[in-house]
Amino acid sequence: MTAVARGLRRPDGPAKLTGTAVYTADTKIEGVAYAVLVPATVPSGRIAHIDTTVAAAAPGVLAVLTHADMPRLNLIGTPPLGQSVLPVQDDRVRYEGQPVAMVLADTAERAHYAAGLVGVAYADAAAQPAFGAGEPVTPIGGLLVRPRLMSRKFNAEVLTLKILASAVASGSRRRLAGSRFKVLAGPDDGVGDVDAGLAGADTVVTATYTTPDRHHNPIEPSATLADWDGDQLTVRDATQWVFGTRMVLAAAFGLPADHVRVVCPYIGGGFGCKGFVWPHTLLTAAAARVTGRPVKLVLTRAQMFTSCGHQPATRQTVTLGATRDGRLTAIRHHSVNPTSTFDDYAENATDGTRWMYASPAIAVATRIQRTDRPTPTPMRAPAEGVGMFALESAMDELAYSLGIDPVDLRLRNEPAVDPMTGRPFSSRPFTECLRQAAERFGWSGRTCEPGSMRDGDQLIGWGMAAVTMNTFRMPSSARVRVDVGGRTVVEVGTQEIGTGLPGVVTMIAAETLDVDPGSVEVRHGETNLPETSGTFGSSATMGVGSAVAAAAGELRAKLDALGQVGGYAARLANAGLDSLEAEARWDPAEQGGGHSIHTYGAVFVEVRVDADLGLVRMPRCVATYAAGRIINPLTARSQIIGGITWGYGQAILEASIFEPQLGRFLSKNLAGYLMPVNADIGNIDVSFVDDADPHASPLGAKGIGELSAVGVSAAIANAVFHATGARVRDLPITIERLLKPAGAD
Ligand code: MOS
Repeated sequence: MTAVARGLRRPDGPAKLTGTAVYTADTKIEGVAYAVLVPATVPSGRIAHIDTTVAAAAPGVLAVLTHADMPRLNLIGTPPLGQSVLPVQDDRVRYEGQPVAMVLADTAERAHYAAGLVGVAYADAAAQPAFGAGEPVTPIGGLLVRPRLMSRKFNAEVLTLKILASAVASGSRRRLAGSRFKVLAGPDDGVGDVDAGLAGADTVVTATYTTPDRHHNPIEPSATLADWDGDQLTVRDATQWVFGTRMVLAAAFGLPADHVRVVCPYIGGGFGCKGFVWPHTLLTAAAARVTGRPVKLVLTRAQMFTSCGHQPATRQTVTLGATRDGRLTAIRHHSVNPTSTFDDYAENATDGTRWMYASPAIAVATRIQRTDRPTPTPMRAPAEGVGMFALESAMDELAYSLGIDPVDLRLRNEPAVDPMTGRPFSSRPFTECLRQAAERFGWSGRTCEPGSMRDGDQLIGWGMAAVTMNTFRMPSSARVRVDVGGRTVVEVGTQEIGTGLPGVVTMIAAETLDVDPGSVEVRHGETNLPETSGTFGSSATMGVGSAVAAAAGELRAKLDALGQVGGYAARLANAGLDSLEAEARWDPAEQGGGHSIHTYGAVFVEVRVDADLGLVRMPRCVATYAAGRIINPLTARSQIIGGITWGYGQAILEASIFEPQLGRFLSKNLAGYLMPVNADIGNIDVSFVDDADPHASPLGAKGIGELSAVGVSAAIANAVFHATGARVRDLPITIERLLKPAGAD
């Protein structure tokens, strides 16, 4: 068996376990100053006065910077900036938690102490109504290309950054710094006549579903360490994209890219909040320039709730029409989400509805509502992660309304081609996933009547959902070298986010060169290495992996040209060479054109609901995925388990309550923001169907990281209905929502 078929334990594991893997905040630099941001305590208005005298006189304080003395930074042409407005540049306050000052001191403790001594007086604080308070919603669109084009571009471009880049190219400064920034959903779109489809249906179900604001909460908070040497800037940053961070820093300080080096070998999770570049990174670099010292900043846990995005709440309405025998005649999916007053972030919740089911008529639309809050951002399984909760809950409601088994209903609506675009699917073994997971779960033993599977005071529910995710394919490059000592070195700029990318590229290089994985060393995580895309959009295995395969393939050809006899080391020695290397780039624009490329899965869960207390437990979950060729089964399975756990959190626990009177997220800590722990999670059975997709990447690989977080919340909500007869359409499924008498909305 090849190394790739067996799976590889993480080569990065020992360094992480023993603490020798260096994260941004761990990095020690001589003479560093510690920076702490002072957050605004009001959601809007302006700064009338800042008193820095007490803070400046506190022990160890080196400087207190406000908008009066912070350098002005250039915002032109700077995607992937997380928000269009940079704070500490003027006296405006646009969201609670916005930095209004920065304190620098000789220790972190002294900086934190002095930050509490900065006195700020605010004026004109008139907050916008919070989301859902009946305010007008705004259509999005404008600068966007049409969604059909967009979905093709999505496949070939760096996430939606292409859209941001086109906004920069076609827009003025005002346009970028004002509206239309960070629009991540398409304008209204559709196929066929939905009204006619609904009029001709035997059954119509329509319902509104909501998902709450959520925060990424990686264990490692965002951190930056900036160090200037003349006009050369080195920044260690907790980022999902070292090259994107370099792009923004270079633009902000008016430097050529090669004057900026960004280093990030490891991050302790990101889930999207480190995918874009946020103000703290730029302000830290600016402070280092002003003070002439290296500056380190680590966001507090509370600041993580206002400084690097969040997943916005959504309110989604789904209408499905179907014939008596369960064939869809129309699908309408409408979503609205809150965004900041200055950026148009639109959660692309209707995306999966475009291609999931066959229907002669489909209509999708997204709206935004402006509120006083920080700009939202993608969070693990954006779009489908929230949208499939609504679509798959609605499919369950339709199944009950028709009296058809939920699995059968999905099988009856399997499309032959992409229903919105008419394009062929690159690969779509969705029905295989459905059948395999149903079989492993024992679905045929289910009695469909709600409340019919009671076990003492435990109400048992079985529920399922379809899973899909877009496939984001991003270009990357890699360098591979073999030396006369028999060592193989793989060099890629990408950072390790925690998913096990060093193991994946080790396996790909080892297989391509036919060498022992133990002889492969991976160097990663900085901009002086070959350029790669970000670790987001579940794209790194495809992008970075394909580049490594290409480089290793070229290297193998070079080594074979030295002669086919003996190992590589002997061939190099015979040729009088110390080493030989090859560098290659993979560009998805050259592959897979004209196909509808996605990943799929089916998730089945059993819940047990305490009949008296309404507590929902998930003793078991069975899920089967079609996600391209699986490179490392060990870490793939780990990722899926993490995603399903994340989905359980979405279903049952997670919500960032927004307090409308104060205009702020209420509980900025992990005590007030609930996430699953081991005791919450039962047995998770993960399997994959064979799905090497030659249209997606030369490896046949697609992405898995976000796919596994999709559909779980719908499967759980559907199981809760099966257990209790209560249809909970608002996440999370808290005890009070479950115990609410039917019809008491
Ligand atoms: Mo993910 S939300 O693309 O980091």
